[in-house]
Amino acid sequence: MQRNPGKIFCIDALTYAGNTENLADIPRDGRYIFVKGLIQDAGFVRDMIKNHGLDAVVNFAAETHVDRSLKDSVLFENTNVKGALSLLETSINSGVRRFVQISTDEVYGSLEKGSATESAALNPTSSYAKSKADADVRLQALAKNLGYEGLVITRSSNNYGPYQHPEKFIPISLTNLLQGKRVPVYGSGKNIRDWIYVLDNCDGIESVLENGRNGEIYNIGGGNEYKNTAIVLQILSIIGKQWGKDTVQLVKDRSGHDFRYSIDCSKIKKELGWSPKTMELSDGLRKTVEWYKNNPAWWKMTTESPAFKKYVQQHYVETHGMKE
Ligand code: DAU
Repeated sequence: MQRNPGKIFCIDALTYAGNTENLADIPRDGRYIFVKGLIQDAGFVRDMIKNHGLDAVVNFAAETHVDRSLKDSVLFENTNVKGALSLLETSINSGVRRFVQISTDEVYGSLEKGSATESAALNPTSSYAKSKADADVRLQALAKNLGYEGLVITRSSNNYGPYQHPEKFIPISLTNLLQGKRVPVYGSGKNIRDWIYVLDNCDGIESVLENGRNGEIYNIGGGNEYKNTAIVLQILSIIGKQWGKDTVQLVKDRSGHDFRYSIDCSKIKKELGWSPKTMELSDGLRKTVEWYKNNPAWWKMTTESPAFKKYVQQHYVETHGMKE
Protein backbone atom coordinates (compact mmCIF):
# COMPACT_ATOMS: atom_id res chain seq x y z
CA MET A 1 0.00 0.00 0.00
CA GLN A 2 1.43 3.41 -1.04
CA ARG A 3 1.07 6.08 1.61
CA ASN A 4 2.53 9.52 1.93
CA PRO A 5 4.06 9.53 5.40
CA GLY A 6 3.56 13.28 5.70
CA LYS A 7 2.06 14.30 8.98
CA ILE A 8 0.84 12.44 12.03
CA PHE A 9 -1.95 13.91 14.13
CA CYS A 10 -2.45 12.59 17.63
CA ILE A 11 -5.99 13.15 18.87
CA ASP A 12 -6.32 12.49 22.59
CA ALA A 13 -9.07 13.30 25.09
CA LEU A 14 -6.41 13.61 27.84
CA THR A 15 -8.46 11.74 30.42
CA TYR A 16 -6.77 10.45 33.60
CA ALA A 17 -4.22 8.31 31.69
CA GLY A 18 -3.38 10.81 28.94
CA ASN A 19 -0.19 12.81 29.23
CA THR A 20 1.37 14.97 26.52
CA GLU A 21 4.78 14.34 28.14
CA ASN A 22 4.59 10.75 26.82
CA LEU A 23 5.34 12.09 23.34
CA ALA A 24 7.85 14.72 24.43
CA ASP A 25 10.70 12.91 22.60
CA ILE A 26 9.10 13.39 19.17
CA PRO A 27 10.85 16.16 17.20
CA ARG A 28 8.77 19.32 16.89
CA ASP A 29 9.45 19.81 13.19
CA GLY A 30 5.85 20.15 12.06
CA ARG A 31 5.32 16.50 11.10
CA TYR A 32 3.74 15.54 14.43
CA ILE A 33 0.77 17.54 15.67
CA PHE A 34 -1.06 17.03 18.94
CA VAL A 35 -4.75 17.94 19.14
CA LYS A 36 -6.94 17.54 22.21
CA GLY A 37 -10.31 16.10 21.22
CA LEU A 38 -12.82 13.26 21.44
CA ILE A 39 -13.13 10.43 18.94
CA GLN A 40 -16.90 10.53 19.54
CA ASP A 41 -17.05 14.14 18.30
CA ALA A 42 -17.95 13.45 14.67
CA GLY A 43 -17.80 17.09 13.55
CA PHE A 44 -14.35 17.58 15.02
CA VAL A 45 -13.04 14.30 13.56
CA ARG A 46 -14.53 15.04 10.13
CA ASP A 47 -12.92 18.51 10.08
CA MET A 48 -9.55 17.05 11.09
CA ILE A 49 -9.66 14.44 8.35
CA LYS A 50 -10.94 16.75 5.64
CA ASN A 51 -8.88 19.83 6.50
CA HIS A 52 -5.63 17.87 6.70
CA GLY A 53 -6.33 15.26 4.02
CA LEU A 54 -5.76 12.35 6.41
CA ASP A 55 -5.68 8.98 4.67
CA ALA A 56 -5.30 6.58 7.59
CA VAL A 57 -6.63 6.34 11.14
CA VAL A 58 -5.18 4.13 13.88
CA ASN A 59 -7.58 3.86 16.81
CA PHE A 60 -5.57 3.45 20.02
CA ALA A 61 -8.18 5.42 21.99
CA ALA A 62 -9.67 3.30 24.76
CA GLU A 63 -10.34 2.76 28.40
CA THR A 64 -7.78 0.00 28.96
CA HIS A 65 -7.56 -0.95 32.62
CA VAL A 66 -9.37 -4.18 33.49
CA ASP A 67 -9.61 -3.31 37.21
CA ARG A 68 -11.37 -0.03 36.42
CA SER A 69 -13.80 -1.78 34.06
CA LEU A 70 -15.01 -3.94 36.96
CA LYS A 71 -16.47 -0.79 38.50
CA ASP A 72 -17.55 1.28 35.49
CA SER A 73 -18.66 -0.87 32.58
CA VAL A 74 -20.72 1.95 31.00
CA LEU A 75 -17.64 4.15 30.57
CA PHE A 76 -15.89 1.26 28.80
CA GLU A 77 -18.89 0.66 26.56
CA ASN A 78 -19.06 4.36 25.66
CA THR A 79 -15.42 4.87 24.76
CA ASN A 80 -14.44 1.46 23.47
CA VAL A 81 -17.55 0.53 21.51
CA LYS A 82 -19.52 3.69 20.75
CA GLY A 83 -16.40 5.83 20.38
CA ALA A 84 -14.79 3.36 17.99
CA LEU A 85 -17.99 3.04 15.93
CA SER A 86 -18.34 6.79 15.64
CA LEU A 87 -14.69 7.15 14.64
CA LEU A 88 -14.94 4.47 11.95
CA GLU A 89 -18.19 5.84 10.55
CA THR A 90 -16.80 9.38 10.34
CA SER A 91 -13.54 8.10 8.86
CA ILE A 92 -15.33 6.14 6.14
CA ASN A 93 -17.62 9.07 5.31
CA SER A 94 -14.61 11.40 5.15
CA GLY A 95 -12.67 9.25 2.68
CA VAL A 96 -10.09 7.56 4.95
CA ARG A 97 -8.52 4.65 3.06
CA ARG A 98 -7.25 2.59 5.99
CA PHE A 99 -8.57 2.19 9.53
CA VAL A 100 -6.58 0.15 12.06
CA GLN A 101 -8.47 -0.85 15.21
CA ILE A 102 -6.20 -1.67 18.16
CA SER A 103 -7.77 -4.59 19.99
CA THR A 104 -6.43 -7.08 22.52
CA ASP A 105 -5.67 -10.76 23.13
CA GLU A 106 -8.20 -10.60 25.97
CA VAL A 107 -11.07 -10.95 23.48
CA TYR A 108 -10.27 -14.68 23.19
CA GLY A 109 -10.73 -15.15 26.93
CA SER A 110 -8.74 -17.30 29.32
CA LEU A 111 -7.07 -20.38 27.83
CA GLU A 112 -5.89 -23.29 29.98
CA LYS A 113 -3.70 -24.51 27.12
CA GLY A 114 -2.95 -23.80 23.47
CA SER A 115 -2.91 -20.43 21.71
CA ALA A 116 -5.71 -18.57 19.93
CA THR A 117 -5.43 -17.90 16.21
CA GLU A 118 -7.33 -14.98 14.68
CA SER A 119 -10.23 -17.28 13.80
CA ALA A 120 -10.71 -18.57 17.37
CA ALA A 121 -14.07 -17.91 19.02
CA LEU A 122 -14.35 -14.77 21.13
CA ASN A 123 -14.90 -15.45 24.80
CA PRO A 124 -14.29 -12.20 26.74
CA THR A 125 -15.01 -12.09 30.46
CA SER A 126 -14.24 -8.66 31.99
CA SER A 127 -16.20 -5.56 31.02
CA TYR A 128 -13.01 -4.29 29.40
CA ALA A 129 -12.47 -7.41 27.27
CA LYS A 130 -16.16 -7.56 26.43
CA SER A 131 -16.13 -3.95 25.21
CA LYS A 132 -13.10 -4.64 23.00
CA ALA A 133 -14.67 -7.83 21.56
CA ASP A 134 -17.94 -5.99 20.93
CA ALA A 135 -16.00 -3.23 19.18
CA ASP A 136 -14.24 -5.73 16.91
CA VAL A 137 -17.51 -7.35 15.89
CA ARG A 138 -19.46 -4.09 15.52
CA LEU A 139 -16.69 -2.42 13.49
CA GLN A 140 -16.52 -5.39 11.13
CA ALA A 141 -20.30 -5.23 10.67
CA LEU A 142 -20.25 -1.46 10.09
CA ALA A 143 -17.46 -1.77 7.51
CA LYS A 144 -19.40 -4.51 5.73
CA ASN A 145 -22.65 -2.54 5.79
CA LEU A 146 -20.97 0.52 4.29
CA GLY A 147 -18.97 -1.50 1.75
CA TYR A 148 -15.69 -0.32 3.32
CA GLU A 149 -12.67 -2.53 2.73
CA GLY A 150 -9.94 -0.65 4.63
CA LEU A 151 -10.59 -1.99 8.15
CA VAL A 152 -7.86 -4.07 9.82
CA ILE A 153 -7.72 -5.17 13.46
CA THR A 154 -4.67 -5.91 15.62
CA ARG A 155 -4.93 -8.00 18.80
CA SER A 156 -1.89 -7.49 21.00
CA SER A 157 -0.71 -9.14 24.18
CA ASN A 158 0.38 -7.30 27.37
CA ASN A 159 2.56 -4.30 26.55
CA TYR A 160 5.38 -3.18 28.82
CA GLY A 161 8.12 -0.55 28.57
CA PRO A 162 8.69 3.17 29.15
CA TYR A 163 5.84 5.63 29.72
CA GLN A 164 3.32 2.99 30.85
CA HIS A 165 0.77 4.34 33.31
CA PRO A 166 1.59 3.37 36.92
CA GLU A 167 -1.74 1.54 37.32
CA LYS A 168 -0.50 -1.43 35.23
CA PHE A 169 1.22 -4.42 36.78
CA ILE A 170 4.87 -3.85 35.78
CA PRO A 171 4.84 -0.07 36.47
CA ILE A 172 3.05 -0.45 39.83
CA SER A 173 5.55 -3.15 40.80
CA LEU A 174 8.50 -1.00 39.78
CA THR A 175 7.34 2.34 41.14
CA ASN A 176 6.36 0.73 44.44
CA LEU A 177 9.74 -1.00 44.80
CA LEU A 178 11.60 2.20 43.88
CA GLN A 179 9.74 3.93 46.72
CA GLY A 180 10.45 1.15 49.23
CA LYS A 181 6.87 -0.13 49.03
CA ARG A 182 5.64 -3.63 48.26
CA VAL A 183 4.43 -5.17 45.01
CA PRO A 184 0.72 -6.06 45.23
CA VAL A 185 0.34 -9.53 43.69
CA TYR A 186 -3.26 -10.60 43.09
CA GLY A 187 -4.26 -14.04 44.42
CA SER A 188 -1.60 -16.71 44.05
CA GLY A 189 0.33 -14.81 41.38
CA LYS A 190 0.14 -17.86 39.11
CA ASN A 191 -1.83 -16.10 36.37
CA ILE A 192 -0.03 -16.02 33.04
CA ARG A 193 0.32 -13.19 30.55
CA ASP A 194 2.31 -12.90 27.30
CA TRP A 195 4.50 -9.78 27.49
CA ILE A 196 5.50 -7.71 24.46
CA TYR A 197 7.94 -4.78 24.55
CA VAL A 198 5.99 -1.70 23.48
CA LEU A 199 8.19 -0.82 20.50
CA ASP A 200 7.74 -4.33 19.08
CA ASN A 201 3.99 -3.85 19.29
CA CYS A 202 4.37 -0.50 17.50
CA ASP A 203 6.41 -2.18 14.73
CA GLY A 204 3.69 -4.80 14.34
CA ILE A 205 0.96 -2.17 14.15
CA GLU A 206 2.97 -0.23 11.57
CA SER A 207 3.36 -3.38 9.43
CA VAL A 208 -0.38 -3.95 9.58
CA LEU A 209 -1.10 -0.30 8.77
CA GLU A 210 1.18 -0.41 5.74
CA ASN A 211 0.75 -3.92 4.43
CA GLY A 212 -2.04 -5.74 6.27
CA ARG A 213 -4.67 -7.25 4.02
CA ASN A 214 -8.01 -5.46 3.95
CA GLY A 215 -10.57 -6.84 6.40
CA GLU A 216 -8.03 -9.03 8.25
CA ILE A 217 -7.18 -9.48 11.91
CA TYR A 218 -3.57 -9.87 13.10
CA ASN A 219 -2.42 -11.15 16.50
CA ILE A 220 0.73 -9.41 17.82
CA GLY A 221 2.37 -11.12 20.80
CA GLY A 222 5.76 -11.09 22.46
CA GLY A 223 6.13 -14.88 22.79
CA ASN A 224 6.98 -14.36 26.45
CA GLU A 225 4.44 -16.16 28.63
CA TYR A 226 5.21 -15.82 32.32
CA LYS A 227 3.44 -16.20 35.64
CA ASN A 228 3.04 -12.91 37.47
CA THR A 229 5.32 -14.21 40.23
CA ALA A 230 8.06 -14.80 37.64
CA ILE A 231 7.74 -11.21 36.45
CA VAL A 232 8.13 -9.95 40.02
CA LEU A 233 11.15 -12.20 40.61
CA GLN A 234 12.84 -10.86 37.45
CA ILE A 235 12.19 -7.24 38.42
CA LEU A 236 13.48 -7.87 41.95
CA SER A 237 16.64 -9.45 40.62
CA ILE A 238 17.27 -6.54 38.20
CA ILE A 239 16.95 -3.97 40.97
CA GLY A 240 18.95 -6.06 43.42
CA LYS A 241 16.17 -6.98 45.88
CA GLN A 242 14.78 -10.29 47.04
CA TRP A 243 11.29 -11.76 47.36
CA GLY A 244 10.18 -11.30 50.96
CA LYS A 245 7.63 -9.71 53.26
CA ASP A 246 9.20 -6.28 52.71
CA THR A 247 9.00 -6.43 48.93
CA VAL A 248 5.88 -8.45 47.98
CA GLN A 249 2.36 -8.66 49.34
CA LEU A 250 -0.12 -11.31 48.14
CA VAL A 251 -3.47 -9.51 48.14
CA LYS A 252 -7.09 -10.48 47.47
CA ASP A 253 -7.51 -11.66 43.89
CA ARG A 254 -9.02 -9.63 41.03
CA SER A 255 -12.69 -10.56 40.66
CA GLY A 256 -13.08 -12.94 37.68
CA HIS A 257 -9.31 -12.90 37.13
CA ASP A 258 -8.54 -14.57 33.78
CA PHE A 259 -5.91 -17.27 34.24
CA ARG A 260 -3.98 -17.15 30.98
CA TYR A 261 -3.96 -15.37 27.63
CA SER A 262 -2.07 -16.81 24.71
CA ILE A 263 -2.08 -15.93 21.02
CA ASP A 264 -0.71 -17.62 17.95
CA CYS A 265 1.17 -14.99 15.92
CA SER A 266 2.17 -17.07 12.89
CA LYS A 267 -0.10 -15.05 10.57
CA ILE A 268 1.65 -11.68 11.00
CA LYS A 269 5.06 -13.39 10.95
CA LYS A 270 4.32 -15.27 7.74
CA GLU A 271 2.35 -12.59 5.86
CA LEU A 272 4.11 -9.41 6.94
CA GLY A 273 7.51 -10.68 8.07
CA TRP A 274 7.11 -9.14 11.52
CA SER A 275 8.63 -10.64 14.65
CA PRO A 276 9.48 -9.08 18.02
CA LYS A 277 13.03 -7.72 18.23
CA THR A 278 13.10 -7.89 22.03
CA MET A 279 13.04 -11.67 22.22
CA GLU A 280 14.02 -12.05 25.87
CA LEU A 281 11.75 -10.59 28.52
CA SER A 282 14.79 -9.97 30.72
CA ASP A 283 16.25 -7.58 28.09
CA GLY A 284 13.04 -5.58 27.83
CA LEU A 285 12.60 -5.55 31.60
CA ARG A 286 16.14 -4.25 32.08
CA LYS A 287 15.43 -1.34 29.69
CA THR A 288 12.12 -0.70 31.44
CA VAL A 289 13.65 -0.70 34.93
CA GLU A 290 16.37 1.71 33.76
CA TRP A 291 13.77 4.04 32.27
CA TYR A 292 11.64 4.16 35.45
CA LYS A 293 14.78 4.63 37.58
CA ASN A 294 15.87 7.55 35.39
CA ASN A 295 12.47 9.20 35.08
CA PRO A 296 10.97 9.51 38.58
CA ALA A 297 9.60 12.97 37.73
CA TRP A 298 7.46 11.42 34.99
CA TRP A 299 5.84 8.71 37.12
CA LYS A 300 5.61 10.84 40.25
CA MET A 301 3.37 13.25 38.30
CA THR A 302 0.86 10.39 38.55
CA THR A 303 1.72 8.53 41.75
CA GLU A 304 1.78 11.72 43.83
CA SER A 305 -1.43 13.12 42.37
CA PRO A 306 -4.51 13.18 44.64
CA ALA A 307 -6.46 11.19 42.01
CA PHE A 308 -3.93 8.31 42.03
CA LYS A 309 -3.65 8.31 45.82
CA LYS A 310 -7.44 8.02 45.99
CA TYR A 311 -7.31 5.18 43.44
CA VAL A 312 -4.67 3.35 45.51
CA GLN A 313 -6.77 3.73 48.66
CA GLN A 314 -10.01 2.55 47.06
CA HIS A 315 -8.54 -0.09 44.78
CA TYR A 316 -5.61 -1.59 46.67
CA VAL A 317 -6.53 -0.93 50.30
CA GLU A 318 -10.33 -1.23 50.25
CA THR A 319 -10.89 -3.71 47.38
CA HIS A 320 -7.74 -5.85 47.56
CA GLY A 321 -7.06 -5.57 51.30
CA MET A 322 -3.53 -4.28 50.81
CA LYS A 323 -1.76 -3.18 53.98
CA GLU A 324 0.71 -0.27 53.99
O1 DAU B 1 -3.59 -8.68 27.37
C1 DAU B 1 -3.59 -7.36 26.86
C2 DAU B 1 -4.16 -6.48 27.93
O2 DAU B 1 -3.18 -6.35 28.94
C3 DAU B 1 -4.60 -5.11 27.43
O3 DAU B 1 -5.60 -5.25 26.48
C4 DAU B 1 -5.10 -4.27 28.62
O4 DAU B 1 -5.46 -2.99 28.19
C5 DAU B 1 -4.01 -4.18 29.66
O5 DAU B 1 -4.47 -3.47 30.79
C6 DAU B 1 -3.54 -5.58 30.07
O6 DAU B 1 -4.53 -6.25 30.87
P1 DAU B 1 -4.12 -7.09 32.17
O7 DAU B 1 -5.27 -7.15 33.09
O8 DAU B 1 -3.50 -8.39 31.77
O9 DAU B 1 -2.93 -6.13 32.73
P2 DAU B 1 -2.56 -5.68 34.20
O10 DAU B 1 -1.27 -4.94 34.09
O11 DAU B 1 -3.68 -4.98 34.89
O12 DAU B 1 -2.32 -7.06 34.96
C7 DAU B 1 -1.37 -8.00 34.51
C8 DAU B 1 -1.44 -9.20 35.45
O13 DAU B 1 -0.95 -8.79 36.73
C9 DAU B 1 -2.84 -9.73 35.69
O14 DAU B 1 -2.79 -11.14 35.85
C10 DAU B 1 -3.27 -9.07 36.99
C11 DAU B 1 -1.97 -8.96 37.75
N1 DAU B 1 -1.86 -7.79 38.66
C12 DAU B 1 -2.15 -6.55 38.16
C13 DAU B 1 -2.03 -5.42 38.96
C14 DAU B 1 -2.38 -4.06 38.42
C15 DAU B 1 -1.40 -7.95 39.96
O15 DAU B 1 -1.12 -9.10 40.40
N2 DAU B 1 -1.29 -6.84 40.75
C16 DAU B 1 -1.60 -5.59 40.31
O16 DAU B 1 -1.47 -4.62 41.11
